[in-house]
Amino acid sequence: MTQLAVQLNRLKLANPILVASGTFGYAREMAAYVDFTKLGGIIPKTITAEPRRGNPPPRTVETPSGMLNSIGLDNDGIDYFLETHVPYLTSLGTAVIANIAGRNVDEFVTMASRLGKVDRLAALELNISCPNVSGGVDFGTNPEMAADVVSSVRDACDLPVIAKLTPNVTSIVTIAQAAADAGADAVSLVNTFLGMAIDWRKRRPILGNKLGGLSGPAIKPLALRCVYQVAQNVEVPIIGVGGIGTIDDVMEFLVAGASAVQIGTANFYNPSVSERLVTEIADCLRDQACNSIADLVGSIHHESPNS
Ligand code: FUM
Repeated sequence: MTQLAVQLNRLKLANPILVASGTFGYAREMAAYVDFTKLGGIIPKTITAEPRRGNPPPRTVETPSGMLNSIGLDNDGIDYFLETHVPYLTSLGTAVIANIAGRNVDEFVTMASRLGKVDRLAALELNISCPNVSGGVDFGTNPEMAADVVSSVRDACDLPVIAKLTPNVTSIVTIAQAAADAGADAVSLVNTFLGMAIDWRKRRPILGNKLGGLSGPAIKPLALRCVYQVAQNVEVPIIGVGGIGTIDDVMEFLVAGASAVQIGTANFYNPSVSERLVTEIADCLRDQACNSIADLVGSIHHESPNS
């Protein structure tokens, strides 16, 4: 029997395949495509203390092998989330990890303490990395601010805490270390890369907010590099995210050092992909004669391919 379960400090998942925030709605939208009970967990769209209308359109644009978005954390706020989405999400038979973004530490703390009282939420993911709202990314680009928000949220509730980090920094290792030292149970690596699309004929940016976050296959090597660097330097469980759409992608992230992965942009072009990957990872483990996911995590050999 292969063992698909993974333990990320206080968070236990039935298997390492999660769906990423902002790519799976609040799950209702995906019910026709995915048997939720098969997944390691669901991370719904980021919620904020108050409802947000988000950024002006256009908010998405397709790019070669990727997608730019500047949604701007459009959501109905935590009150609506607790009343309308939580009862549904917590009935689905899989781990639900609420993703929250605050404008300041107090907002993170207030939301964490309210969500900490909800039965059957598995964890909190702190979105300290959204490139599309002013101030949103500050917590993820400054190690002291990242540590402050993580430790404050830990003090405010008993749920496992995951910090979702931005790759738009000089050293992601420094930020991951700060989050780990402050008590993060895990870090999600990485949110989107800041990018831009231009309609040169009109001499204008395409996105309403001018800049946006790039996701999808185009960023996979960049995300993989972040996972590898953090795994080599920081003792913290890693959830890999960035361009993952195939079983080979999943395996590359695990071997690089991730204990679990999130499927993001792939949900848009193949809504059933996450469920299929759960089946495929079980097959792959058997083929590799591995008894558990832990046998794979960080199993990369460090010699160069020519040695
Ligand atoms: O703009 C957005 O809502 C995206 C959020 C994120 O990338 O964290």
